[in-house]
Amino acid sequence: MAIPTSPKERNLNASAAVAAAVVPAAGRGERLGPGAPKALRELGGVPLLVHAVRALARSRAVGLVVVAAPADGVAEVAALLDSHGLDGKDIKVVAGGATRQESVRLGLAAVPAEFDVVLVHDAARPLVPVDVVDAVAAAVRGGAVAVVPGVPLADTVKRVVPQPGAPEPVLDTPDRACLRAVQTPQGFRHATLSEVHEKALAEEAGGTLPPVTDDAGLVEHYGGQVVVVPGHEEAFKVTRPLDLVLAEAVLARRRASDGF
Ligand code: C5P
Repeated sequence: MAIPTSPKERNLNASAAVAAAVVPAAGRGERLGPGAPKALRELGGVPLLVHAVRALARSRAVGLVVVAAPADGVAEVAALLDSHGLDGKDIKVVAGGATRQESVRLGLAAVPAEFDVVLVHDAARPLVPVDVVDAVAAAVRGGAVAVVPGVPLADTVKRVVPQPGAPEPVLDTPDRACLRAVQTPQGFRHATLSEVHEKALAEEAGGTLPPVTDDAGLVEHYGGQVVVVPGHEEAFKVTRPLDLVLAEAVLARRRASDGF
């Protein structure tokens, strides 16, 4: 499939689309090693963020992409997207925050009310297949308030008493059949996502919010039902240097097989 470059080709049209996507891309990505912010690291000569935005823009369900960039890099990120043909009224760049949660909240604030569905997708998952994006948006349109793509685990998982650098006592071994490793995009009713982020902001100020690492976790925390739909092994998060090696291999295979 050719890489869509103009707004028309990208199918970001208001008639078919009900979803806006928020892309938190303001993290430093220190686990990846020193260098540029993670979202701007290159994969196949193209920044991770550009891959991620293109992956979302390929979905007919998505009519707007809001990128939360590092606060001191908004103009740079906007220019970068522009230079890759990702510009126009269907792409917005806003300043992100000090945490992923804050970046999502700031991105969400830039999504107009007309979008009933909001997807949140990590810039660090550049290779998510469009089928996963479509499936998540469709499940929200189908009535779920919060939807996450997930995959079964290959490894057995142990719950431990964390003691970095020392042998860690095992508490128990959850049944692997009941576990899913969850990915993004995570999809939400717009009103639901706004509500849980507002509540979390208030609870955080009071110092009582437990650690929450994804948006679906906030919905769970406030009693909402989250459902899992099938994710994809290629939607993995680029976190450590080895992930970049794997991502390069996946991209090379795609380019060889379909001119991606
Ligand atoms: O650090 P981690 O890999 O969990 O980050 C997940 C996503 O959240 C990345 O796309 C990263 O850029 C984003 N993030 C953000 N603002 C922060 C921290 C992380 O947008 N302050």
